[in-house]
Amino acid sequence: MLDACHHDPRVLDVDVEQVAFVDPEHASHLHGHHDPAERVDPPGGSHRSEHRRRWGRRRAGERHDRDRNDRTAKKAGEPGPTGQNGRVPDPLPADLPARFYVTTPIYYVNDVPHIGHAYTTVAGDVITRWRRLFGDEVHYLTGTDEHGLKVQRAAEARGVTPQEWADATSARFVDTWRELQIANDDFIRTTEPRHRAAVQAFLQRVYDNGYIVKGTYEGLYCVPCEAYYTDDDLVAGNCPIHDRPVDHVVEENYFFKLSEFGQRLLDHYEAHPEAMQPEGRRNEVIGFIKQGLRDFSMSRTSIDWGIPLPWDPDHVTYVWFDALFNYCTAVGYGSDPERFDRWWPVDYHLIGKDILRFHAIYWPAMLMAGGLEPPRCVFAHGWLLVGGEKMSKTKLNQIFPHDLIADFGVDGYRYHFMADQRFGPDGDFSYESMVARYNSDLANNFGNLANRVLNMAVNYCGGIVPDRRADGPLREQAADTFAAQADAFARLDFASGLAAVWDLIRATNSYIEDSAPWALHKAGDADATADVLGDCLEVLRIIALLTSPVIPNAAAELWRRLGLPGRPDDQRLPAASAWGGLPAGNVLDKGAPLFPRIEA
Ligand code: MSP
Repeated sequence: MLDACHHDPRVLDVDVEQVAFVDPEHASHLHGHHDPAERVDPPGGSHRSEHRRRWGRRRAGERHDRDRNDRTAKKAGEPGPTGQNGRVPDPLPADLPARFYVTTPIYYVNDVPHIGHAYTTVAGDVITRWRRLFGDEVHYLTGTDEHGLKVQRAAEARGVTPQEWADATSARFVDTWRELQIANDDFIRTTEPRHRAAVQAFLQRVYDNGYIVKGTYEGLYCVPCEAYYTDDDLVAGNCPIHDRPVDHVVEENYFFKLSEFGQRLLDHYEAHPEAMQPEGRRNEVIGFIKQGLRDFSMSRTSIDWGIPLPWDPDHVTYVWFDALFNYCTAVGYGSDPERFDRWWPVDYHLIGKDILRFHAIYWPAMLMAGGLEPPRCVFAHGWLLVGGEKMSKTKLNQIFPHDLIADFGVDGYRYHFMADQRFGPDGDFSYESMVARYNSDLANNFGNLANRVLNMAVNYCGGIVPDRRADGPLREQAADTFAAQADAFARLDFASGLAAVWDLIRATNSYIEDSAPWALHKAGDADATADVLGDCLEVLRIIALLTSPVIPNAAAELWRRLGLPGRPDDQRLPAASAWGGLPAGNVLDKGAPLFPRIEA
């Protein structure tokens, strides 16, 4: 048995642990906009009930129809069929992983990756890592969108082939995601043979089902959007997204009969309101559908940088049909039916609000036309604005992840974009607020807590985790923190989830101030000192665990300093969040500050 907390007379009674905390956390400029219209209903309710629901579905070989039925039959929080007290027994043993498929948009290769692209991709990564902590089998997909007029023109302008241009730019996305430590399972490129084959198989099916017909199109087209507009869509005569003139075009092409899907889409969103999030965007989509849907053009003869229609190869596929189908290609549509059946329908399509209509209207209708199920959830977040404006090449206001990583590190980068604003409304990015948040949350609150607790444990307890802990107020708060974070992350509200963890960090710092272990130590009360530090070290373990999906490097380093084997990622929630997981006797390592302050 180890001493509770041994007093080493060689250790000086330094008071470095009594560092005062600057806490500008509540400075309003650090927070994203709060828009009550952005309410989010988690698909299936709270994380716990969502998770439980998932334990009960997608067993190997199980059909999705049943899942669908299960899902509609019972809403989260309602008592299950056998639940007298509202608790539903887990229908399957907990060692069967749930499957979870999440995607980002595939990014156009006419642009290089900027913080707007990275925003969606980091969010997808955080939800991926979070679900993996619960033992879920996650498939995280991102990639690049490489066909279309813009790419053809960009390549022509540079005197290279479209493929050469696509190869060069796609590689920059791959590199950026590697730099940001994105844990994607696949990176799809629409110029890959697997995609061409899958798109052609699907198109043939939709054509055979009678939902693709030939027609003449005359109208307005915005090249940067790769989209057609009506007069009503334009703002002051310009494209509503790019604020630039649109082209007038007359073409013979194939049309997708979207007009036939209005009622089915309305029925779908009525039966599955969680399928379009947040609520404000769902209302937008429903309003749009109710105005009446028009058939849309899905082929071109004027360009050849695309996938030829299998029944009429003079036409290439219109970019949205091609691009959207990447989500199905990647999980084996047309090549591996069993695999496809395991992963489809997708759980989350994460997108920016700019491509809402394509994902929430065109895409489910296309899937229905091809006999496939619509996505379980499309989640549209707002834009990251710079100086109040959307980033664009022409405005020269793009910010690149690499430049910020150089200043803030990978964890500092990832933390900022997840914590600074809610994933839903628009939010403004500013370098100054990034510095302020980094210093306040990471250097002061998180870093200082780790530093002072480890320092005190080394100085007062000989660098060994004591075998005593008070099991004081932090125990309950840690449990509440996990519950609040799980609930928020289930709604993709990363900022609130992280705020809950930072409340625990602040509470632990206050607990240290109140219980003053340095004074207990000075008074020679080794047991009381151990009680307090035992609790604080346990909180550090829980914090390392809960922050690991967002700041994987600092979390792993804190884990190591606590003498814990492996990495937080190897742990399993919810069990690992239970109080008391830090073994007494672990050898501590105080290390250098995890987040050195940044002077602006
Ligand atoms: N290629 C299409 C998507 C096809 S998906 C089947 C496309 N590509 S894009 O390169 O323009 O990327 C759009 C996505 O990038 C947005 O939906 C969003 O996820 C992300 N963002 C790009 N700029 C952004 C901001 N300024 N702010 C937040 N996210 C933005 O559209």
